[in-house]
Order: sequence, then C-alpha cells, then structure tokens
Amino acid sequence: MKTVPTPRRFSRDSVALFARDSLARRLHHDLLATPVGRAHVLRQLATAESADEATIFDEVRKYCKDPEIEKLVKKHAEDEARHAILFEECVSRQGVTDPGPVADELQVLKVLDKTLEKTEGRGFLASELGGGDTRESVAKAYLLLQVVEERALHQFRQMAPIFAKYDPATAEVLATVIADEERHLKYCYAIVARYAADGAWAETHLQRFRDAEALAFRDVQGANLTALLDRNLLPVNTARFFGIISKLLRNSKMLPYTPTGLAGRTDVRKAA
Ligand SMILES: [Fe+2]
Ligand SMILES: [Fe+2]
Repeated sequence: MKTVPTPRRFSRDSVALFARDSLARRLHHDLLATPVGRAHVLRQLATAESADEATIFDEVRKYCKDPEIEKLVKKHAEDEARHAILFEECVSRQGVTDPGPVADELQVLKVLDKTLEKTEGRGFLASELGGGDTRESVAKAYLLLQVVEERALHQFRQMAPIFAKYDPATAEVLATVIADEERHLKYCYAIVARYAADGAWAETHLQRFRDAEALAFRDVQGANLTALLDRNLLPVNTARFFGIISKLLRNSKMLPYTPTGLAGRTDVRKAA
C-alpha cells in the first residue's frame, strides 16, 4: 500500500506541515542541546518502541497462524524491543537524573486508541484487533502499524541531524534505527497486500488511521509542550515563544499529518 512520498502541490495542509516541521526543528534544537532535554526525548522514544507497538504484536500473535507472517511479526517485535534498549542506553549515557516514566497523554498509541473511541465509538484494541482470527484483523493491525512507522520515520529523520550536532553517539544509534524502520514499512506493505480484501478497502482504513493518528499526534504535541514548559526544559525565550504557539495550535484544524500521510489524502491527490 505505497503512497507517493510528498505532497506534490500547494495546499493548506502542506503549508501547515511545513510550519509545524519548522517549529519542531526549532524546538528540538533547543531541547536536544542539553543532556536533560535529550534524556527526556530519548525516554519518550524508548517508551514508544517498547510499549506502543508491542501491544499490536501481542494482538496479532493471538490470531495469526500464518508461519511466514509469524516470522515477520517475531523479527519486527524483536527489532522494536532492541530499539527500546538502544534508546534506554542513550538515556543512561546522558548522565542526568532519570527523566521518569512517560505519562499516558504523551504516548501516541494510547492517545490514538482514545481518539478512535471518541470519533468512532471504539478504540482500535476493541474494534480493529479484537476481531478474532480473520484476515481483516491482521490487515488492520498492519495498516495501524504502517501509520505508526510513518510517524516514527518522519520524527527520526527530523531529529537525526540535530542529534548529530549535539550527541553523535545517539545519532549513530538513530541511523541504524531509521534503516530498521524503513524495513518495517516494507513488512507493513507486504502484509497488507497479502491480507487486505482489496486496495480500496486498505486505502479506506489507512486513511481512517492516518486521520485519527494526526488528531492524536496534535494532542500529544500539545501535551508534550506543556510538559516541557512545566519541567523548565527550554530556554526562557523559547519557552515564551512556544507557550504562545501551544495555545494557537491546541485546537488547530490543520492537523499534523506526516508527509506520506498528507500525500495519501484524497483531497491532496485531487488537487494535484
Ligand atoms: Fe522501532
Ligand atoms: Fe518500527
């Protein structure tokens, strides 16, 4: 289920994407310049690797008995567990006080589940993955994973040059993780192609998940900014600037789609 990598034409959402990415880069430049800021971000990355996707793998393992898929799921799950350990090692290397556990409101998959509960009446754990031993459940699990992987890749690519500037050892870790995440996306495409009823069905559900994920990511970004300000992890001027931005973006209708997600949207395609 491949989509073109970037939006081709000017659109309101592509401007929003550019603006949000520029703001994220600005924020990361200040946040990743200090060991305590890096520890905060790296703990979030480690938590996302260990907690988020593991939930989906556990569900798929319950009902998928295709040996080839089981092999891919096993490899994929092992990669994510290894990524979590690698990121935790990066946290320790910062040599600062432990940043503590990541609040639920900062974990995209948890927020995404709640977002689907709100927008569709049921979270994905209940409605997408709890469907029993069906091809549809496997395809939906991997469409959901695809959306999560797209976000991870976008964020990792955005942070990589900034880590390279302030923490080259972590940048090296990130480079190996990025290569793995690119491979994981290929697993998602392959499994969806094999299990989805057809392309239109897959496209419909992919869009549902991308819409919900963009909404969830917007809320997580807002909550994260509040957490950064509460913890004094930003220089005063940056904190002041992002305090204002946070209020402006809180209820923005221009959602933070990833470039792949934005390119896959029907309205963008029609405009192209
Ligand atoms: Fe990962
Ligand atoms: Fe991954």
